[in-house]
Amino acid sequence: MKITKICCIGAGYVGGPTMAVIAQKCPHIQVKVVDLNAERIAAWNDEDLNNIPIYEPGLDAIVGEARGRNLFFSTEVEKAIDEAQIIFISVNTPTKTYGKGKGMAADLKYIELCARQIAKIAKDDKIVVEKSTLPVRTAEAIKSILDNTGNGVQFQILSNPEFLAEGTAVSDLLNPDRILIGGDTTAEGQEAIQTLVDVYANWVPTDKILTTNVWSSELSKLTANAFLAQRISSINAMSELCEKTGADVNEVAKAIGMDSRIGPKFLKASVGFGGSCFQKDILNLVYIAKSYGLNEVADYWEQVIIMNDHQKRRFSSNIVQTLYNTVSDKKITFLGWAFKKDTNDTRESAAIYVADDLINENAKIAVYDPKVSRKKILADLDYLESRKAEDNANAILSFEDPYEASKGAHAIAVLTEWDEFVQYDWQRIYDSMQKPAFVFDGRNILNRAEMESIGFVYQAIGS
Ligand code: UDX
Ligand code: ADP
Repeated sequence: MKITKICCIGAGYVGGPTMAVIAQKCPHIQVKVVDLNAERIAAWNDEDLNNIPIYEPGLDAIVGEARGRNLFFSTEVEKAIDEAQIIFISVNTPTKTYGKGKGMAADLKYIELCARQIAKIAKDDKIVVEKSTLPVRTAEAIKSILDNTGNGVQFQILSNPEFLAEGTAVSDLLNPDRILIGGDTTAEGQEAIQTLVDVYANWVPTDKILTTNVWSSELSKLTANAFLAQRISSINAMSELCEKTGADVNEVAKAIGMDSRIGPKFLKASVGFGGSCFQKDILNLVYIAKSYGLNEVADYWEQVIIMNDHQKRRFSSNIVQTLYNTVSDKKITFLGWAFKKDTNDTRESAAIYVADDLINENAKIAVYDPKVSRKKILADLDYLESRKAEDNANAILSFEDPYEASKGAHAIAVLTEWDEFVQYDWQRIYDSMQKPAFVFDGRNILNRAEMESIGFVYQAIGS
């Protein structure tokens, strides 16, 4: 089948950048990204490319090139479904907050709504691609809905998990380690796989495009994220031991990373991993394992999450303990709120949990993040439902300038590894703070010798 029209349901962190790159690399294909959220679509269509809703280095230029040529953002979901030959489903699949599997299983209600909408509208054969992070066997559910409620047209369901990391989404999409496409083993399934392979082959070398059955593809996504998160929890576990024994976790990480069997990546000790994927995917894995009665498998992976929660808690209790066991009415400045640098995404960011703990201790938190708004910070805290919204609003001071944020502070906590933090005039920050001035470096980005020579009491993770 020659593809001329693609649609993507969901204009978020996955759908937006992925479709922008497909449109840039395939000018002969019309790519429509649709979303129910009119405000988000309006932001994608904003003339000023600084206002597109997702911050990713390089994304503005790609949107600028393709938008209006063959890339379109719209709220007309039904029209886009009707026209497209391939439909990507890229809606959110948060962890369930109610009922069976609460706090663990993925909530598939948005996916199901999409499937029902596609079934209702489609008047000709379509390829439906699941692009959201989904638990294993979701494709089967989508297929069942489509086949039982559709207008008798043929659907092929493909799994095409996204491996892009936020902050590097554009380069990950332009230059992926691999593209994974799972489909039915039938002739029709294989034909659908080939159709999607041909789209990616416009810029990805074919030896990097892997095809598998649907279940392998879905499970590979969860497995990749579980392995990556496990490395971080493993190094974070060692960080606590290093602090007790006088070893330096950065040195340990370097030493083990030079073993080519281990490799150097994802060994950076930190205040804990965040982001929309790791925790959610592992909890899904745990839930799936439990549902098959595989309790040891479930416990094994759950420990990665337990370790991560411990790391965040440990960071906040260390701040309290070091500040003479009380932070009541003390000003603690957070540098960073995003879950990692180069993104405005804050989902599951360690900063949220550290702030929550410190607010429980009556601290005032002054936040500076180059890309995160006060509105989002308060929404993140309100989502935890630990206290009334007005109490969060009173406890959080937010600043557009890091020097203002640090004035009069008792301590600074680095929660995100933004490059600019290293470049600051730390002497000026020191001079404006209460003494002794503490720095808790949750990302190990600052230089201990320099910080101590200025006069800071400097604490890093794992040394
Ligand atoms: C992850 C996967 O990398 C990606 O392939 C998948 O598609 C989605 O989930 P993402 O969550 O965007 O991507 O970011 P990632 O770079 O993996 O970082 C996740 C978290 O781990 C961040 O909070 C980061 O700061 C933390 N991290 C990462 C560490 O603490 N130490 C490290 O060594 C690496
Ligand atoms: P991700 O990180 O997976 O991309 P986001 O939450 O950033 O997740 O984006 C998912 C988007 O999907 C949201 O903008 C949401 O409004 C949109 N969405 C959810 N359900 C539907 C639906 N049925 N039709 C259209 N858009 C939807």
